[in-house]
Amino acid sequence: MKVTVFGIGYVGLVQAAVLAEVGHDVICIDIDENKVENLKKGIIPIFEPGLTPLVMQNYEEGRLKFSTDAKEGVDHGVMQFIAVGTPPDEDGSADLKYVTTVARTIAEHMQTHKVVIDKSTVPVGTADCVRAVMTETLKTRQADIAFDVVSNPEFLKEGAAVTDCMRPERIVVGTDNAQVVDMLRELYEPFNRNHDRMILMDIRSAELTKYAANCMLATKISFMNEISNLAELLGADIEKVRQGIGSDSRIGYSFIYPGCGYGGSCFPKDVQALIRTAEKIGYTPRILQAVEAVNDEQKLKLPAYIKHHFGEDLKGKTFALWGLAFKPNTDDMREASSRVLMETLWQAGAQVQAFDPEAMDEAQRIYGNRHDLKLMGTKEAALQGADALVICTEWKNFRAPDFESVKNALKEPVIFDGRNLYDPERIIKRGFVYYAIGRGASVKLHN
Ligand code: UDX
Repeated sequence: MKVTVFGIGYVGLVQAAVLAEVGHDVICIDIDENKVENLKKGIIPIFEPGLTPLVMQNYEEGRLKFSTDAKEGVDHGVMQFIAVGTPPDEDGSADLKYVTTVARTIAEHMQTHKVVIDKSTVPVGTADCVRAVMTETLKTRQADIAFDVVSNPEFLKEGAAVTDCMRPERIVVGTDNAQVVDMLRELYEPFNRNHDRMILMDIRSAELTKYAANCMLATKISFMNEISNLAELLGADIEKVRQGIGSDSRIGYSFIYPGCGYGGSCFPKDVQALIRTAEKIGYTPRILQAVEAVNDEQKLKLPAYIKHHFGEDLKGKTFALWGLAFKPNTDDMREASSRVLMETLWQAGAQVQAFDPEAMDEAQRIYGNRHDLKLMGTKEAALQGADALVICTEWKNFRAPDFESVKNALKEPVIFDGRNLYDPERIIKRGFVYYAIGRGASVKLHN
């Protein structure tokens, strides 16, 4: 099938590459000429495991094309995906200006029937808005051309985006047109074998499903972080509690890892956007407000431990930081806990020596050449001469470091672990002071 994808971000590029991989004829349209030219040379704008070879191969074999020419894009596919960004505006609502611009562009150029598919995370009611913009534009053109608008949210995780897209757990489709369902069945057929993963519903329910899923996951994390704070005060160990409750199949083991807060491009933005949606219709979303507040406070947890240990004034102190990305296997630092940590440490006068396996360029881009941030080439180099080690991201190669050399490199053997990577008892036996999240037992051991 011929498919057009507007927006070469995370969602658009991964979806386009995966659709091309199974044989569809896909063109990606973006206004960023640089991005398009780079892609043609094989330079991929994001780090995502497995994505580069997938894009390269499909591009070389002609199933995946890139262009800035919107008309070419509109002419190409019956299916027109909208996968542009929906950044938060000043009050945290999702800003739809990119979505409506694409909708207008499609309506300006279309000559035949199009199925416009919202892939971006968009508030309930966006499909109506897309439809209104397109109807209006077609009217000014005096063109009487039919079109459909479908909500088909993505659920991919950064770091596992290609796999998530190749083997989706569900394909949510919101539409009021049975013919469109047939077309989408054909489009997604290669991903929908063995058992039917397509969940059909009305458009508004599909739009809300995406927010509800992300907000549910964020709620699980904030809930665990709250219990971890209690565990700490009560002298219990959250890691034991996690296993204890995860074994209940109704609760499950996933997304109940306590830590120094969730970040990324989705959870913080989507929780906030759903809060704004609720408020606009006169409903107070108490749980969502608490989820957000708990997370904001959780990001201040590591700085609080550090100040508890070293005092409020951190002038002259240097901290080794392992992990800048908001989670492993990505270079993305959007809303990362590491940023709150570094900014709080800098305010208190401290220096940071940071290492991340993938996010060094991103840190450089965000913070430039600050005098109080040194980006180091290895995790070992980050430790040299630092007063203590702080961990913000659970990259695999942080899990079993050579503890003796960690101890030798640091001025004081102190670890502030925002991801509970180590066994408190063993690490304390090795001579470290160990601050972790919600591990009351560990706090007791070194007090
Ligand atoms: C998320 C959703 O998982 C995905 O379905 C949706 O489409 C987009 O948003 P993503 O933002 O890529 O994906 O990351 P995810 O793996 O969900 O992690 C989000 C944040 O939560 C990270 O900062 C992570 O460290 C944190 N987290 C996750 C926890 O603190 N504890 C957990 O148990 C799980």
